[in-house]
Amino acid sequence: LKLLTIIGARPQIIKSAAISRAIKNHYAPSIKEVVVHTGQHYDERMSAIFFEELQIPLPDYNLGAGSGKHGEQTARMIAGIETILENEQPDFMIIYGDTNSTLAAAVAASKIHVPVVHIEAGLRSFNKKMPEEINRILSDHVSTYLFPPTQTGLDNLKNEGFRVDNRPPYTIDRPGVFNVGDVMYDNTLFFSKVADKNTDILEKEGLQKKQFLLVTLHRNTNTDDATRLNAIFRALLEIANSGNETLVLPLHPRTAKQMEILLEAELRREISSNPAILLLPPVSYLEMIQLEKYAKLVLTDSGGVQKEAYFLKTPCLILRAETEWVEIVESGAAVLCDADETRILDAYRYFMSNPESSFQTIYGDGSAAEKILNLLLTGAGATT
Ligand code: UD1
Ligand code: UDP
Repeated sequence: LKLLTIIGARPQIIKSAAISRAIKNHYAPSIKEVVVHTGQHYDERMSAIFFEELQIPLPDYNLGAGSGKHGEQTARMIAGIETILENEQPDFMIIYGDTNSTLAAAVAASKIHVPVVHIEAGLRSFNKKMPEEINRILSDHVSTYLFPPTQTGLDNLKNEGFRVDNRPPYTIDRPGVFNVGDVMYDNTLFFSKVADKNTDILEKEGLQKKQFLLVTLHRNTNTDDATRLNAIFRALLEIANSGNETLVLPLHPRTAKQMEILLEAELRREISSNPAILLLPPVSYLEMIQLEKYAKLVLTDSGGVQKEAYFLKTPCLILRAETEWVEIVESGAAVLCDADETRILDAYRYFMSNPESSFQTIYGDGSAAEKILNLLLTGAGATT
């Protein structure tokens, strides 16, 4: 069986590690994987840094699509992926999540009848102003296998008319829909065992366990909106000035650029000179796992970071109005704060005085990748 995997943005490179590891350990040579990197992320710390650390095969192709407006970036990817699909003739194309790389691959493959396998299908924010919501909905509706990571994801697909009775052979008109758990959970379980041994980020940055807060921010609604960006940073400054914890911010390049342009001058000066605020370049995955595990609290607008905080039993403030990972909020381990200074400060104070949250197992059993590969092997021959 030949799989062609599309990666491009940081979280997809990380997610792909689970499937590549399962192929190497259990399915080679029956399953062969060809990896295509769209080049959506290209900085050393947004891409190259992950391959060796996560033992991911180096891409067989790199399309060098780079940054740009949605249309031009996605178009470059579609053209490149189509040519590779024609040459490689894979049995399936694997796509992850909801980025422009995901959508480009879904469009390219479905039109030339290569069956699409969507890992992390079915998630919805119900906010179509997000580019990711458009990417997910469109990708799901041209997929032949859909793998929602949660019951909520499966239910969302049912509500959009997908049949989940799962009778092979699967086709684009009658896809297979399976909740197998989350490949990110597979990865966190696997790599958290090695992170303690292989990284020294806490020591390197002078951090003490459970005496710092981890902050990540990159969602375009926050980085490109001056009002929201300033409100979030005012709240962070207030936390830095009033609490005893260091705030650690590994900055996505988009955020670093926008802080220079959109933060009010005085606030920017106070943030960059505050000894309790540590601005870092993006960190490696193992370093991130360490930071998430030993932070007292995580503040983030990232989907992946919300979940990893939960896997590692650290409470989370979500810097968005809504989340696709509703189970985490329902469990009480995370609070939606939007970009609202008061809500951020209230939730921070709440978790400082109520540090115990409850963390259930809701993302599978750590073998999502094996379950996906088994289903592809037994259902092989699906066509669009
Ligand atoms: C993308 C995804 C988002 C995902 C995120 C993960 C889309 C529409 N968005 O957002 O869903 O959560 O990746 O991190 O696909 N840049 C660099 N160096 C890089 C990459 C980006 O400097 O290596 C800068 C460029 O200025 C670029 C900007 O970041 O214009 C945004 O990059 P882009 O890939 O378009 O979107 P992300 O915000 O990274
Ligand atoms: N991540 C990382 N280094 C960083 C920030 C994030 O390795 O400096 C990892 C994080 O552990 C998670 C993934 O990147 O596995 C999440 O990606 P991101 O926040 O960029 O995007 P999202 O999940 O919101 O799409």
